[in-house]
Amino acid sequence: MIRCINVHKQYRLGDAVVPALRGVDLTIDDPGFYAVMGSSGSGKSTLLHLLAALDTPDEGEVHVAGVRIDTMNERELTRFRSREVGVVFQQFNLLPTMTAMENVELPGLLARRPAKETRERAGSLLEALGVAHRAGHRPDALSGGEQQRVAIARSLLFSPRVLLADEPTGALDSANSRTLWALLAQIAAEREMSIVMVTHEPEAASHCARVYTLSDGRIVGVRSGEEAHGRVEPSGAQ
Ligand SMILES: Nc1ncnc2c1ncn2[C@@H]1O[C@H](COP(=O)(O)OP(=O)(O)OP(=O)(O)O)[C@@H](O)[C@H]1O
Ligand SMILES: [Mg+2]
Repeated sequence: MIRCINVHKQYRLGDAVVPALRGVDLTIDDPGFYAVMGSSGSGKSTLLHLLAALDTPDEGEVHVAGVRIDTMNERELTRFRSREVGVVFQQFNLLPTMTAMENVELPGLLARRPAKETRERAGSLLEALGVAHRAGHRPDALSGGEQQRVAIARSLLFSPRVLLADEPTGALDSANSRTLWALLAQIAAEREMSIVMVTHEPEAASHCARVYTLSDGRIVGVRSGEEAHGRVEPSGAQ
């Protein structure tokens, strides 16, 4: 479902060259909930951006949801980004003047999907994420956890096979974080999706099938979620 082959990426800042990924090989064949961990600057967000086709590698191949994306043209990329992958970030990026329901419907309306079908789908996603009772609220009347669940509902509108999440609980307290991890694991299982989440929080590992550790732009470790969780400080110590 996801395959990176010898992926390199560097950023240029004036005359300086910053290596961000230095030969990443990654294969995820099965649906499930996966974590990417590693210290600040290790390349986690860069990797997620490449998987979301928000940026292209300098070298190597990136395959997502059965297609090679690093060689796509702009038209193919636009379609891929809007249909094949969902993306969520630490900031929820909801439109403040729209209700939760309208935020979830928006990608469907922009893609000119039938309004009735889009509303039904948005409603069932809000239900699945446990925020149907907040459908008529604007983001400023929702808690952080609720806003992130609305953002996830929006990212699932087109039933992508892959969901990419960059520190989705970074702005949430521990109770909301646990709820979100459990929901993401459930969504991955029920919808047979691959969900790849970048996180700094060791406790998240216990919800994940596998944890990939990045260091200096390379994957230096792959462990089961239980194994990764077992080796860290007990929860509450963070
Ligand atoms: N737009 C950019 N221009 C220049 N350098 C960048 C850019 N984005 C990232 N970098 C550099 O690339 C490296 C990897 O950055 P990246 O954002 O992928 O790290 P990260 O693992 O997500 O870190 P964090 O945990 O702090 O979010 C870092 O050295 C960073 O400074
Ligand atoms: Mg990052």
